[in-house]
Amino acid sequence: MTRWKSITVETRREAVDALSHFFTEHGSLGMAYDERLFGTEGDPADPLPPPDEVTKLTAYFPWEADLHSVKRDFLDFLPLLAESFGAEPGTFLSAAEITDFGWAEKWKENFKPSRIGKRITVKPSWEPYSPSPEEVVVTIDPGQAFGTGTHETTQMCLQFLEEAFDGTPTPRRVLDVGTGTGILGIAAALLGAPLTLGIDVDPLGVEVAGENARVNGVEDRFHAATTPLSCVEGRYDLILANVLAEILSDLKQEIADRLEPGGKLILSGIISEKGDWVAKEYEAAGFRLAGRKEDGQWTALLLRREGDVA
Ligand SMILES: C[S@@+](CC[C@H](N)C(=O)[O-])C[C@H]1O[C@@H](n2cnc3c(N)ncnc32)[C@H](O)[C@@H]1O
Repeated sequence: MTRWKSITVETRREAVDALSHFFTEHGSLGMAYDERLFGTEGDPADPLPPPDEVTKLTAYFPWEADLHSVKRDFLDFLPLLAESFGAEPGTFLSAAEITDFGWAEKWKENFKPSRIGKRITVKPSWEPYSPSPEEVVVTIDPGQAFGTGTHETTQMCLQFLEEAFDGTPTPRRVLDVGTGTGILGIAAALLGAPLTLGIDVDPLGVEVAGENARVNGVEDRFHAATTPLSCVEGRYDLILANVLAEILSDLKQEIADRLEPGGKLILSGIISEKGDWVAKEYEAAGFRLAGRKEDGQWTALLLRREGDVA
């Protein structure tokens, strides 16, 4: 028997992606909303009446989740959401406990091997796959962690990462902040980084990332830990962070302190409206904007720390 908890909120349709990201960062294992009305290009997918401006979104959590704190953080998040999506971007509707929901395995149907960038393929651990010789295959079993490579924010990181390894010198020490399944850090290890550290506030994510490192045969080069960023020692020549814009802003000095002069920083998880703001925050902290990608509602940034390459 499987037991879950859920929170249901009402939100503007254009804020669904941002809220999904928010709930994922708070430990949600998946979301449900009225997808029927989102066809290609955001048009209604079938000849039903046009969509209401608002939709209900239900986020599912493991049984152990503390929904009081998730609800409190959701309410605190609303003013930030309003900055991007206008007044009243969401309302809390209900929290629930669910038994035997049977949802757990269903998402797997949508996770298929997919090519990202020129040579990275992300595939689920349960799908057989025959790669071509030049492909770098990242095998992921997400368990209860974020990072299957199906989200735009992860894909843009992987594209920047691949480009970083196409240049010279190639990154040797990589730090993956908010590693989730370990997808980015493991990709860095497979692309050739001799040392990669993935950190996450979520111990479940760290466990999953460690298991994925073993599955990919990179456990000697990729380590996952719950070490807070402020306690990470040493400097890295490439740092990746796919977390929300507000968290990126909070972490800028701690990130700057751990990046070699001239080192590369890949930031993602940024709602497009906040792309310029995050770029300016980092420029003020001693970074230079070196690249930008946009996909759907999301922005990813490539920054260089000022100073000569060590
Ligand atoms: C959007 S997921 C990214 C997962 C994966 N790196 C990817 O790109 O698909 C964000 C992750 O960051 C973690 N996280 C959030 N805030 C963090 C922080 N301050 N320090 C470390 N990890 C954090 C969350 O637990 C979550 O696993």
